[in-house]
Amino acid sequence: MTPPAFFNRIARYYDPLTHLYMFGTYAAVRRRILNTHGDGREVLDICCGTGYIGNAVQAQRVVGIDLSLPMLRVNQQKQRRTGRGSHLVNGNIRTLPFQSGQFEEVYFTLAAHEFPDLEDVLREVHRVTRPGARLTVYDLYETPNPLYRLMLHTFYYYLVEQRCMWVYTPEGWRALLERVGFRLASLQAPYGPSALVQAVRQPS
Ligand SMILES: C[S@@+](CC[C@H](N)C(=O)[O-])C[C@H]1O[C@@H](n2cnc3c(N)ncnc32)[C@H](O)[C@@H]1O
Repeated sequence: MTPPAFFNRIARYYDPLTHLYMFGTYAAVRRRILNTHGDGREVLDICCGTGYIGNAVQAQRVVGIDLSLPMLRVNQQKQRRTGRGSHLVNGNIRTLPFQSGQFEEVYFTLAAHEFPDLEDVLREVHRVTRPGARLTVYDLYETPNPLYRLMLHTFYYYLVEQRCMWVYTPEGWRALLERVGFRLASLQAPYGPSALVQAVRQPS
């Protein structure tokens, strides 16, 4: 996975860099994500980083968790400027410091590809959510489009992700989600080699 020190170093530049490497499409994707936001009152944003998603979600309570303190500092500065945002926790999503069944909605954006052990991470997400909760993942994926596949395995793999990238086909996502107790509700491809995956947590 991408070493945590990487995000510590680039925290101040993360937002403009992401805008660049997503070719300016992330704002439109965020609008799409927010339009599909459910009525979850307890929302969790895992790997929240600078809060691009979590700080824009309307809910009774949004909790953002991230390993990188510098990323969380940028998040906090943005919250001070805009006057809105989430409750931030510095922690590792592999062992979420939350009670079982606490959340009704989870966001996981631009980070799932960094976890070779994604199945274990999603099991932890299953633990902290209640039946019927919605999981929204937005990330790079193994697209069937040959041009975007080339882009994924060259530009993204070598340059952006520096060879730390674990991605799934749509079928791979379906199977992975089922193994950890979620049902795939939809998988859309809003831009190039990226997928917006929405899933529903099944009863244990
Ligand atoms: C590419 S950024 C994505 C940030 C944000 N979700 C977004 O959409 O812009 C990945 C984030 O994952 C965080 N991260 C990586 N491994 C983590 C872990 N094990 N636990 C918590 N956060 C982690 C990094 O610190 C970084 O802020």
